[in-house]
Amino acid sequence: MITLRNLDQLLKKNLKGKVVFVRVDLNIPIKDGVVLDETRIERISPTLQELIQNGCKVCLLSHFGRPDGKYNEVFSLKQIIPSLKKYIKEEIIFSESLYGDKVKTILEKSPSNSIILFENTRFESGEENNSKELAKNISENADYFINDAFSVSHRSHMSTTGLSNYLPSFSGRYLDKEILMINKALNIGNGKRLGIIGGSKISTKLKVLENLTEKLDVLFVGGGMANTFLLAKGYKIGKSLCEKSMLKTAINILDTAKNKNCELIFPEDALIANDMEKGTSFSEVMIDNVPNDALILDIGSKTIENINEFLSSVSTVVWCGPLGLFELNPFQTGTVSVAKEISKLTKDGKLISVAGGGDTVAALSQSNYNRDFTYISTAGGAFLELLAGESLPGIEVLKIDSEEK
Ligand code: 3PG
Repeated sequence: MITLRNLDQLLKKNLKGKVVFVRVDLNIPIKDGVVLDETRIERISPTLQELIQNGCKVCLLSHFGRPDGKYNEVFSLKQIIPSLKKYIKEEIIFSESLYGDKVKTILEKSPSNSIILFENTRFESGEENNSKELAKNISENADYFINDAFSVSHRSHMSTTGLSNYLPSFSGRYLDKEILMINKALNIGNGKRLGIIGGSKISTKLKVLENLTEKLDVLFVGGGMANTFLLAKGYKIGKSLCEKSMLKTAINILDTAKNKNCELIFPEDALIANDMEKGTSFSEVMIDNVPNDALILDIGSKTIENINEFLSSVSTVVWCGPLGLFELNPFQTGTVSVAKEISKLTKDGKLISVAGGGDTVAALSQSNYNRDFTYISTAGGAFLELLAGESLPGIEVLKIDSEEK
């Protein structure tokens, strides 16, 4: 279990009037000027409230999009202010600059208990290349650094790792919760553990597959990536999406899972169609009966039953990746049906359920059954890297070393 320097340790200090820079992830989905999901903002508010209550001047640092190190109005964090205001009752002061005398003046003028939102860190070329100079300049106006952005902790950027070289650094409540819940699904408790992994490609989730076969008792593979396994196992998959270059890798994964006593399960039946057009006609076939001109676009009803049966016999489930082409009706059926069962078992106290990864969250929120999951991570890449058993640089810098213990 990872031990981090956390907010409890920081709160032991007298923080009145202290300037605390908090790395948050305000990289939230916006379409045509409308914010589509504010979960990341909602989840940072406990950390911000605790700092405010302790008299800190709270400075928010975040990236938004990928503006490539230069100013671009489209990626300005100004547009997030109305959403932030829904969760923060204090006045929000906006600062275009991240460092220097202008920031010093803003901080001197602002009372304790203020929130200062800084412009997009990725407008600075020094953010992504983790410039020491930029980190040093920012730290000159700060007393402490908190990382409450688990979802960007897989990046070693100025605002995730660089500032820790110059400021005493701590984890925020939200970052702690993300790590705790993902670890809970992977490591804690008795009973069997089930993983559900989907999405289109094996190649992007190779390490996740390897690590999950190590940690879990049963792993169900669905989505496009199942096709590559099915082809490697000798099934005909018609013209379905698959990665022919990964067939050998797929066989290796099957062998490793066997050696590690992890039961790998695949779809027994599927929903197929001839194209991916809206309103396309579809049918359900057994997996050994996929016609040459068909595309596998979702798991079928037998497979759903099979997963549900596994769900009733395990204590935890961790889910990453949709099980079908959920954007196109009716190929969301598998994902939605499994989400429904997980949410029912979780609600009844029979299951610990954790899900994450960008597409998974989008697919689950479409289902409306996501509310009863034990935890839904808002992280994409960082969630995958933690599932892959990798160490995340933004977390590494917060670890308590043996001398501190
Ligand atoms: C995310 O939304 O997953 C994080 O904010 C990371 O964004 P990035 O992939 O642009 O670094």
